[in-house]
Amino acid sequence: MTPIQPLIDALGKTDVYLLDQFMKGRVAPSMRVLDVGCGSGRNLDLFLRAGNEVWALDESATAVERTSAHAADMGHPIPNERAITGAIEDAALAQFDVVLCLAVLHFARDAAHWRAMVDGLWRHLAPGGMLFARLSSTIGIEAHIEALGGGRYRLDGGREWFLVSLDDLLQTTEALGGELLEPIKTVNVQNRRCMTTWCLRKPAA
Ligand SMILES: C[S@@+](CC[C@H](N)C(=O)[O-])C[C@H]1O[C@@H](n2cnc3c(N)ncnc32)[C@H](O)[C@@H]1O
Repeated sequence: MTPIQPLIDALGKTDVYLLDQFMKGRVAPSMRVLDVGCGSGRNLDLFLRAGNEVWALDESATAVERTSAHAADMGHPIPNERAITGAIEDAALAQFDVVLCLAVLHFARDAAHWRAMVDGLWRHLAPGGMLFARLSSTIGIEAHIEALGGGRYRLDGGREWFLVSLDDLLQTTEALGGELLEPIKTVNVQNRRCMTTWCLRKPAA
C-alpha cells in the first residue's frame, strides 16, 4: 500500500469538483448538508467522515436505501428521518448550509420542471449557504447535440436530456439573487456530453 492510499480511500467516489470545494475551505463540519438526487450516496463520504449532519433525498426509494446502506457500511449511519424518498420540487424540509445536486437537473422533463427543481434546491438553502450543482449543459457541445425542442436534446449514444445554456444559468443565477462562488466551468467529455459546475451562494439574510 502506498502512503497516500488511506487518503484516497477516504475520498471514496466523491466528485472531484465537489472535492475542490473542500480544498477551497468552503465546507465546515458544523454545516448541515442535503444531497438531492443522492443516488448511491457517493458524494457524501467526506461529509459523513467529517461529522456533518447529512440528509439525503432522492425520488427513487432504491437510491435512498443504497445511500443509507452505504453510510451505515462506513460506520456513519444516516437516521431514517434524514433519508427521504421524494422529488425535490415537492419537498419541504429544513434549510441547509450546503445543498448538493450532482447529475440530476438534466433529468428535468422541460424548462418548467427544471425551474421547479432549481426553486426546490434554493428553497432548502439557508441564507449564506452554498448550492453545488453539476449538470449536463449545451456549453461547448452545441455542434454535437440534436435539438428536439423545449430544451430537450439528443446526445451522442441516443440519450435525451434537458440541457441548459450558459445564458440560462446566468439568468437563473440573477433571478434567484444568487452569487456565483466561481465562474461556471464545463468539462467536455469527448463531445458525448458536457458537464457543468454551477456553484452559488445565497445572500446572507
Ligand atoms: C445519475 S443519478 C446521480 C446520483 C448522485 N447525485 C451522483 O452524483 O452519483 C440521478 C439521481 O437523481 C434522482 N432524481 C432525478 N430527478 C429527481 C428529482 N426531481 N428529485 C429528487 N431526485 C431526483 C434519480 O432518482 C437518481 O438517483
